[in-house]
Amino acid sequence: MRILVLQASPNEDGLTATMAKEAMEGAQAAGAETELVHLKKMKLEACLACDDGWGKCRRESLCIIEDDLEAVRLKMSDADGLVLSTPVYFGEVAEVVKNFFDRLRRCERAGPADPRVEGKWALGIAAAGGGGGGGPSCLGVMERYWAHMGLPVFDQMIVTRRSRDYMVRAARQAGEAFVKYIEEQTKG
Ligand SMILES: Cc1cc2nc3c(=O)[nH]c(=O)nc-3n(C[C@H](O)[C@H](O)[C@H](O)COP(=O)(O)O)c2cc1C
Repeated sequence: MRILVLQASPNEDGLTATMAKEAMEGAQAAGAETELVHLKKMKLEACLACDDGWGKCRRESLCIIEDDLEAVRLKMSDADGLVLSTPVYFGEVAEVVKNFFDRLRRCERAGPADPRVEGKWALGIAAAGGGGGGGPSCLGVMERYWAHMGLPVFDQMIVTRRSRDYMVRAARQAGEAFVKYIEEQTKG
């Protein structure tokens, strides 16, 4: 059982990173092998919408931009489940997630490809500010990406500075439950 954890905040000690770490440790406690990818350290450019928007991604499931997209895609396709922990910016996922998923969903929606992330289970975490007002809309954005890429959703969580203490514990429990749930699904 392999769980890939994508951490999307530039802040390595912040709420987003803490939730990612806790979910990862929960997954490890349940016996999974884990890998953490710090998305801000990867080179992930924005989509160029080449060929009038109908580019190579639509024909060959591949992007013309040569950066880290395929490397992260391969890690996703090698995993059984994916945890995404993102800060909430303007009620949405972080820019680096948009860059990555905007391009990945184009490639994934185009048809058979190798590697492929379709069917991998997803656990989403949105780290918001204040009372968490931007959290629900961020989860809505995330949910649309999961749907477009064909990833079934295990759970999506919102955390704020106020809920930090108990949500950090919940993230660990969610990581553990995530692994157990995927195991049950793959058994049957
Ligand atoms: C540019 C920017 C926009 C933000 N927009 C929102 C928002 O719309 N809703 C919200 O609840 N928090 C918003 N926040 C607050 C962040 O989501 C919050 O600080 C988050 O926990 C940061 O995660 P970190 O500790 O990992 O850096 C924003 C923060 C920044 C820097």
